[in-house]
Amino acid sequence: MPHTLHDPRISILARNIEVDDLASQAITDVVNARADARLGLATGSTPIGVYDRLAAAWRDGKVSFSQVHTFNLDEYCGLPSTHPDSFAFYMWHHLFGRTDFDPGKINLIAGDAADPTAEARRYGERFARQKCDLQLLGIGENGHIGFNEPGSPAEGRTRVVRLEPSTRAANQKTLRVLKETPESAITIGIADILQAKSIIVIAKGPAKAEAVRKAIKDRPNSTCPASFLRYHPDVHWMLDADAAGLLGAQA
Ligand code: GLP
Repeated sequence: MPHTLHDPRISILARNIEVDDLASQAITDVVNARADARLGLATGSTPIGVYDRLAAAWRDGKVSFSQVHTFNLDEYCGLPSTHPDSFAFYMWHHLFGRTDFDPGKINLIAGDAADPTAEARRYGERFARQKCDLQLLGIGENGHIGFNEPGSPAEGRTRVVRLEPSTRAANQKTLRVLKETPESAITIGIADILQAKSIIVIAKGPAKAEAVRKAIKDRPNSTCPASFLRYHPDVHWMLDADAAGLLGAQA
């Protein structure tokens, strides 16, 4: 079936902290409109400021997350949730542990599952039963979303993937304990991401500019997996000026 192409909403902010403000406000609005909202959450260095602001909003009594259900995008294979380089640890450190999220409503991938393929199936089925009200995404320098690396199909579902050398190198800088980025991960697929009711993509810095340009300007194609977001009718890109630097005057 041919997909309809949609033009995303694009916000270009002068300073990267304004990206954090805008994204955290959008998330808070969703939760204040639906107390038991389903949120799809991302990791990486980009959302840290967003999570800082969500924690502050909770401390200030502006929002409660106690009924919210969360679903993370991806996880490294081989790492238990207690490992400082796991995405589960990241989420507790940056968000869950600083707010009132209910542990029983937090959905994370078990990176240390003995059978990663079975874990991908379990998580994918759980994810597919929900429809996220809001999916928060970052974007890789090579255009990946979640860990859907170049070559990933729009129809892709939750699965075990091998990481590109460039992704492993880019993520090296975020490691706390490991010397090298793991070789494989479990990620929800692009088709899973596209199930969300609305999607926010945040990107900061010049290293993301080319991936952002391809995702927004090129026809959807698997060399830039984020370009498949054009198939979704409600995508809001929140960019700092550097990440938007190759979009031209039209944006
Ligand atoms: C990570 C995650 C993605 C993230 C991307 C960018 O590896 N799997 O969800 O969006 O790479 O990360 P960063 O924000 O650190 O640039």
